[in-house]
Amino acid sequence: MRKKLIAANWKMFKTPDETRDFFREFLPLVSDHERDEILVCPSFVNLPAAVEAAKGSNVAIGAQDMHWEKQGAFTGETSAGMLLAVGCTHVIVGHSERRQYFGETDDIVNFKLKAALEAGLTPIACVGEVLEEREAGLTEDVLRRQCLRAFHAISAKKAAKLVVAYEPVWAIGTGKTATPQLASDAHLLIRGEAAKAFGEEFAGQLRILYGGSVKPENAKALMAEAEIDGALVGGASLDPKSFAAIVKY
Ligand code: PGA
Repeated sequence: MRKKLIAANWKMFKTPDETRDFFREFLPLVSDHERDEILVCPSFVNLPAAVEAAKGSNVAIGAQDMHWEKQGAFTGETSAGMLLAVGCTHVIVGHSERRQYFGETDDIVNFKLKAALEAGLTPIACVGEVLEEREAGLTEDVLRRQCLRAFHAISAKKAAKLVVAYEPVWAIGTGKTATPQLASDAHLLIRGEAAKAFGEEFAGQLRILYGGSVKPENAKALMAEAEIDGALVGGASLDPKSFAAIVKY
């Protein structure tokens, strides 16, 4: 059985004080929750406050991005080693907003994945088609290409901690959720690509999260799908009650 991972992607929201306020309210709501793993990914400046607030709890802290080099003259960037040093265990890689607004390519996603795995972080590699691609019947091609390139030259042994998130871009922040069936089909395809890259056994254990307008109202139906191993939640993760309700779907 794959233990589900319910992850919050806070994007560019909240200050350190607001981060502490969130955890003060959120932790008691989920303190006895063992069924799923819980993860919160705030912006870089909120990581120390989040790690401190979540210390000793059942909530892990991750970053939303990282650079693939260990250090160097890369203004504005943060390395895997820096994330580990402040207490992060996870990192989101290749989110569609990074791809859309910051020019992140499949190759960059691959460099980041390799570096995160090498450093011992658990990367959540995001893939997903935009609306035009879905409407043109290109979803399968896009997912295949994104997976193939993201997994390039990574061994099954190295990939052990890998998590993938299927996030159809048309469902992110739009209130339009993929139906459980549609998400499930995409997850099957991604699992197939993982089997090609890393072998059947690995693919059987790989956790594939769904992301895109996950809310307390739709979480149960999505999580009931055997193919869906958790959620990556944006907007609805900013409120402690709402995120707790999703965790407890
Ligand atoms: P959303 O974002 O839940 O606000 O749609 C999901 C994501 O981008 O990870």
